[in-house]
Amino acid sequence: MRIGVVGAGYVGLTSAVCLAERGHATVCVDVDAQRVRTLTAGEAPIDEPGLPQLLASTLRDGTLRFSGRFEDLAECEVVFVCVPTPSRPDGSADITAVDAAVGQLNRTLHPGAVVVMKSTVPVGTTRMVIDRLHGTGISAVSNPEFLRESHAIYDFRHPDRILIGAADDRAADVLQTVYGVGDTEVLRMSPESAELAKYASNAFLAVKISYANSLAQLCSRVGADVADVARCMGADVRIGKHFLQPGPGWGGSCLPKDTAALLDTGRRNGVELAEVASARDTNLGQADRIVAALSQSMAGPLATARIAAFGLTFKAGTCDVRDSPALFISDRLASLGAQVSGYDPRLAMIDQDTLRRSSIGAVDDAYLAAKAADAIVVFTEWPEFRDLDWFRIAGQAPAAVVLDTRNLLDPTEIRHAGLRYLGNGKVPGF
Ligand code: UDX
Repeated sequence: MRIGVVGAGYVGLTSAVCLAERGHATVCVDVDAQRVRTLTAGEAPIDEPGLPQLLASTLRDGTLRFSGRFEDLAECEVVFVCVPTPSRPDGSADITAVDAAVGQLNRTLHPGAVVVMKSTVPVGTTRMVIDRLHGTGISAVSNPEFLRESHAIYDFRHPDRILIGAADDRAADVLQTVYGVGDTEVLRMSPESAELAKYASNAFLAVKISYANSLAQLCSRVGADVADVARCMGADVRIGKHFLQPGPGWGGSCLPKDTAALLDTGRRNGVELAEVASARDTNLGQADRIVAALSQSMAGPLATARIAAFGLTFKAGTCDVRDSPALFISDRLASLGAQVSGYDPRLAMIDQDTLRRSSIGAVDDAYLAAKAADAIVVFTEWPEFRDLDWFRIAGQAPAAVVLDTRNLLDPTEIRHAGLRYLGNGKVPGF
């Protein structure tokens, strides 16, 4: 089929290369001319496993091309809208980019074309788009994405479910043909249900992680081990074993923004959604937890401490620092007087403007970051932190306490090297 994608960000680019891989003639449009040039040259602007290879092969095969012009989408039968919907200060989702894209598509597409809302949009947005396109012969459906950064191509190829929110069966059938779904469960429902289902899913994940973080705090106080508690909970299929890992808090481009937008929708409709609000409070409170743990465990005051932040990205496998707890918590530590030196294996690829705005002095060497540190905080679960020479680190920072928010390191090895180790929800821990 002839497919269009609007927006060459994480979701749009992953979708475009995967659709082109399936043989669809795919055109991906982005308003950023530099990004279009970079992509046309075969360079992946984001760090996603498998993306450079797929970009190269689909460009070579001629199934994928990039453009800055909406007119190049004119002949497309299906166009995916994958533009950002950032948070406004009040938590609501800003759909300006979606509006602009739909306006362009309204002028460009032929009758019979299907506009697919892949961006995460507030309930009612797809219905508004359907109304706006009324009389043009162009349909609109909701088809939220569930792609995880660093697993996006895998998730596109092997989705748990395909969600189609449509007011019109023909449009839903066309979209289903694009996916060629095989054994994957296809969930068809109204656009409103599909839009809410996306927010509900991400908010549930956030609630689950915040619960794990609260339990971890309790574990360390009562002498329990959070890994054992989570192992038991996860063995119950009704609970499931995923998203029960304690950490520094959840971050990234989706969970913070989607929980805020869901609460905003609740507020506008007189529904409190206290569970989601509480999950956000717990997440915000992670900084206080870490500040308290450091204050209690370090020999000197936090105000004069040197702290090494190991891992700056919001999770491992990505160079993304959007809403990263590592940055947020480091800023808090710096505001209390600590000097924070940060290291990340992907430092060179991290957005430098965001780093400059933070209070972290970033260095491209873990040993340098840890030099003379009073504490080393492991924020991101990069496996390579396990392979560091912890004896060398202990030699350079003999008084350091290691606060492992991800329970990534081997406590025995760290203690053997001569350093104090505190796990998250462990004994001893925090
Ligand atoms: C998420 C959703 O998983 C995906 O379906 C959605 O469409 C986009 O948002 P992503 O933002 O890439 O994906 O990150 P994810 O892997 O879900 O992790 C979110 C945050 O939770 C990260 O900060 C991660 O470190 C944290 N996390 C996750 C935990 O702290 N513990 C866990 O057990 C799992």
